Amino acid sequence: MRRYLPLALILVLPFSSALAQDKKIEKKVDSVLKLMTLDEKIGQLNQYTGDRDATGPITNNPNKLKDIRDGKLGSMLNVRGAKETREVQEVAMQSRMKIPLIFGLDVIHGYRVTFPIPLAEAASWDLEAMENGARVAARETAASGVHWTFAPMVDIARDPRWGRVMEGAGEDTYLGSKIAFARVKGFQGKGLGNLDAIMACAKHFAAYGAAIAGRDYNAVDMSEHTLWETYLPPFKAAVDAGAATFMNSFNTLNGIPATGSSYLQRDILKGQWKYTGFVVSDWGSIGEMIAHGYAKDKAEAAELAIKAGSDMDMESRSYLPGLAKLVADKKVSVSLIDDAVRRILRKKFELGLFDDPYRFSNEARQEKELNAPENRKAALSMAEKSIVLLKNENQILPLSKSLKKIAVIGPLGKSEKDMQGFWSIAWENDKLVSLYEGLKNKVGDKTELLYAKGCEISDSSKTGFAEAVQVAKQADVIVMAVGETLDMSGEAKSRANIHIPGVQEDLIKAIQATGKPVVVLVMAGRPLIFNWTADHVPAIMYTWWLGSEAGNAMANVLFGDYNPGGKLPMTFPRDEGQIPLYYNYLSTGRPAKNDKDTRYRSAYLDMPNSPKFAFGYGLSYTTFDYSGLTLSKTQITANDKISVSFTLKNTGKYAGEEVVQLYLQDKFASVVRPVKELKDFQKVMLKAGESKTINFTIDKEKLSFYNQQLKWVAEAGDFKLMIGTASNDIKLEKDFTLVN
Ligand code: GLC
Repeated sequence: MRRYLPLALILVLPFSSALAQDKKIEKKVDSVLKLMTLDEKIGQLNQYTGDRDATGPITNNPNKLKDIRDGKLGSMLNVRGAKETREVQEVAMQSRMKIPLIFGLDVIHGYRVTFPIPLAEAASWDLEAMENGARVAARETAASGVHWTFAPMVDIARDPRWGRVMEGAGEDTYLGSKIAFARVKGFQGKGLGNLDAIMACAKHFAAYGAAIAGRDYNAVDMSEHTLWETYLPPFKAAVDAGAATFMNSFNTLNGIPATGSSYLQRDILKGQWKYTGFVVSDWGSIGEMIAHGYAKDKAEAAELAIKAGSDMDMESRSYLPGLAKLVADKKVSVSLIDDAVRRILRKKFELGLFDDPYRFSNEARQEKELNAPENRKAALSMAEKSIVLLKNENQILPLSKSLKKIAVIGPLGKSEKDMQGFWSIAWENDKLVSLYEGLKNKVGDKTELLYAKGCEISDSSKTGFAEAVQVAKQADVIVMAVGETLDMSGEAKSRANIHIPGVQEDLIKAIQATGKPVVVLVMAGRPLIFNWTADHVPAIMYTWWLGSEAGNAMANVLFGDYNPGGKLPMTFPRDEGQIPLYYNYLSTGRPAKNDKDTRYRSAYLDMPNSPKFAFGYGLSYTTFDYSGLTLSKTQITANDKISVSFTLKNTGKYAGEEVVQLYLQDKFASVVRPVKELKDFQKVMLKAGESKTINFTIDKEKLSFYNQQLKWVAEAGDFKLMIGTASNDIKLEKDFTLVN
């Protein structure tokens, strides 16, 4: 007779089998560890870069392969390809312990097929699509023998002068945490050990995005309250998503380099959060503690870093020469080294590399996976979702498909390589679709495409203007492509002036003066300032750097084959003088009621407080109406929930997606709360004329915050609930009270 397992056992089985699996791996880790010499243990903590795609100052070491053979290396970065990784792994198999290497790479937004830059993807507010983008990247990466990506970058950033905003999810902690979770899940898929799963790496731990003055690598100084409230939650979300690794950051946090901070790496990450993965340094951050003035030499840097919980030394060459002597001098205990080695070996077992070191280096799978049609399709869809429509007066957009002549004007109109962004993987003769080509693909020979560059990206010459104006005069519509080249945002690409560079806005003025309908597309890795264009040009889209399918996505949106629904994940300032400028600011004791209210108010004499474009802002070709907000209760206790509902109606003539945003204000609290905080959102597709009831739930978690003692609490008091289409465009609001 078939015996059926009791339900309890069925429910418990998966967990118990995971626990059993963990125990099995721990036993294997122990069995390897006890056979290793101290030098071999230290070797596991050492990572070198390959000689291609180096992302930092490279210290060439011709003996790399010898070091691998001698068991002095645990990992390499910037080695990719089924064949290349196999060759290097074969060398590792000649070492005494035959411990497999793990190969890491900066797969930030795509491996072979390039997706939109992460800040662009964040503008889609489409968590599923972002998870899928990471999934596609993981499949292509794993098929190429690479086990580990140094992504997602989850640094909250409120300063667009910092070029690395392009790699993250923008300024908001709630949105950034949701995206961090989604991306880790995307990279790791069904879990390490699967042949299409790679290790994620939450970076840069921590608060790197708050570099003073937006200057990369600069010091970070903030209260612990701000650290916990704004900058740490996306890292906790990454832990909750099971991120296999963390990467620390170059910056000091309140005077302590992150890589030497046991507060960050031991107390918080490995202590409070019980993190069992490992921490890799950011490039040479361990050795950089000398330049910081924190370590007097590499030996001291090694001691400070290992004690602080930095497990793997990327390229600073501090651990390899230093740790053995520190142990001999009884300055560092072997147990610290053992803990770091365990963490690394655990991941190598979880990846299945001890069973088969070459299991990811499979040329047939690589051939099948790279550039697969479904991968390009996913990139196209993500690119369409990432575009933000900023203006569309007199409904210039979508363009009619019966237009006779369209002029593409501007320095980025035919650019392919700038569509890949700063952190893309370099491929010989890579194929990225420019705006011009995308339009060509769309209109075929039905419409004549004209083109003029007009000017360079950042030089001051206007000699190209005359030709551009001539070309514009011949066209029915002009589509302009302006912004930044891919080397103007990214690592070590901070800019004090974030206006659209050079004479590009003068070119826009000259083209606008022809009186022809003008659409401006701004392509950039960060929020830029373009006030004249924003005030005078009737149609503007922010298209970021959209990756392999950029031009096709822009063409689909321009012609309405895709109705744009992106919303800004970062505030766009009017002027650098306003920075840092973000939507969830504190009221102050003298809040300015509006841009004109400046007399003895927290305001500037020469500039409004408000941004040019707000967090959460973005238009559609259709319009939406919000009505009928109801709360199931207007008074709750901490264990209650409030059901929130309202009606959203598509009142235009196009089907379209709307990102409805739920903001809360805790009006009075033991620590002053922001005027509003994003606490939930939904991306809703509605057909023209369609209505839908939208539901949210308010629970204690959404009402909680860190109090002065850094305890996560919900305090009794009055709250305002706001439903908006942007942080500065609230459609519905109601008050409610939390009672003890
Ligand atoms: C770089 C970056 C980091 C990257 C690492 C490896 O300097 O800061 O984000 O993952 O080095 O390339």
